[in-house]
Amino acid sequence: MVTRQLPNPSELLELMQFKKPELNGRKRRLDAALTVSDLRAIAKRRTPKAAFDYTDGAAEAELSLARARQAFEDIEFHPGILKPAPSVDTSIEILGGPSALPFGIAPTGFTRLMQTEGESAGASAAGAAGIPFTLSTLGTTSIEDVKAANPNGRNWFQLYVMRDRDISYGLATRAAEAGFDTLMFTVDTPVAGARLRDKRNGFAIPPQLTIGTIINAIPRPWWWIDFLTTPKLEFASLSTTGGTVGELLNSAMDPTISYEDLEIIRGIWPGKIVVKGVQNVEDSVKLVDLGVDGIVLSNHGGRQLDRAPIPFHLLPQVVREVGKDATVMIDTGIMNGADIVASVALGAKFTLVGRAYLYGLMAGGREGVDRMIEILRTEIERTMKLLGVSTLAELEPKHVTQLQRLVPVAQPSARRAPARSKTAPAAASVKR
Ligand SMILES: Cc1cc2nc3c(=O)[nH]c(=O)nc-3n(C[C@H](O)[C@H](O)[C@H](O)COP(=O)(O)O)c2cc1C
Repeated sequence: MVTRQLPNPSELLELMQFKKPELNGRKRRLDAALTVSDLRAIAKRRTPKAAFDYTDGAAEAELSLARARQAFEDIEFHPGILKPAPSVDTSIEILGGPSALPFGIAPTGFTRLMQTEGESAGASAAGAAGIPFTLSTLGTTSIEDVKAANPNGRNWFQLYVMRDRDISYGLATRAAEAGFDTLMFTVDTPVAGARLRDKRNGFAIPPQLTIGTIINAIPRPWWWIDFLTTPKLEFASLSTTGGTVGELLNSAMDPTISYEDLEIIRGIWPGKIVVKGVQNVEDSVKLVDLGVDGIVLSNHGGRQLDRAPIPFHLLPQVVREVGKDATVMIDTGIMNGADIVASVALGAKFTLVGRAYLYGLMAGGREGVDRMIEILRTEIERTMKLLGVSTLAELEPKHVTQLQRLVPVAQPSARRAPARSKTAPAAASVKR
């Protein structure tokens, strides 16, 4: 039997503690975003379709990106019990300097297209959080302006070696003079991947006004107001003749770049050199043997060769072959701090986030990037505490199992690993 009574007015009043409404719309929106996927949803609402799709999309059927994200979802964590980790240290030493978190901001081209604050927002947010920011050769903010936005933090420069070598090397020299400490040489772009969304949207640089874009602009006035009232949207370091990003890449990129270019770059760059876009064990071993300071296992966020290997699947095998002292980094598909923790556990020294950053930027400029970093930080810290580890160094392969979904029929042979090539498929070898 339930005993009933008249409601007590003072208890009722206690229940009616309404939260003060947040009048700042940007803050309200960002506070409500609990995950990077939430930031993506806000970004989609606020950004014109062509710009959002340029960011969100990948090459061809976008299988590489979907598989990379799936690979992060298909893991099992193994926590230790009764190992108190009341506070965790997420800081790490990477490429000769500190980072407060085990991730940095990946290089992205044409960033002011997504939101007018562009690279300056990314660089200043990264500086405030104590993580590195990478400026792309195809950036829309100059090397010097990025330095001004992040004067005391770490800036890295991503280099595309273009047909006109003088332009590329000139940019590298400028970045070195501005105090950028690391050069990231991207090698997975001999030609542009087929970004079909851009083709279908008729996306061009600079953006063109068509009936479609005007209709699409109606519910997104702020993007357009920003676009029309801020400095012209253009590549900060390159001059262009217009076209889609793919057409621009094809006219600028040199499909004949080779190890010789790496040697030349090493001759002109005084700081650390990282090769980005490494996609197999053999190349990883060769680059580490050549003495590069780091490699990034990446398929360019699935924007180049569709159905390319999943970097997170390659990771354990590469780490095993190059040795755990080599600086192996990883990107593509990271949407959650737990993805980063899993990567570190499997041997990555560092990770990069591309779209997660851009979703934050589109959702709310600088504050949106701050929010993205905060979300990933919270997820990293919580995952570490739940695993019972207090430092990143304590993370080990035993903390993560990669579950098998795609099993290769046959494993291509890899240098230094002849025995494995005949018997065990790659995905099986990464299952612990
Ligand atoms: C919109 C966009 C532009 C990009 N531009 C560049 C670039 O100019 N140079 C480069 O090396 N990588 C570029 N990338 C790839 C990123 O550096 C990174 O490898 C990728 O975004 C990682 O995958 P994620 O987006 O799933 O984090 C770009 C990625 C995106 C999404």
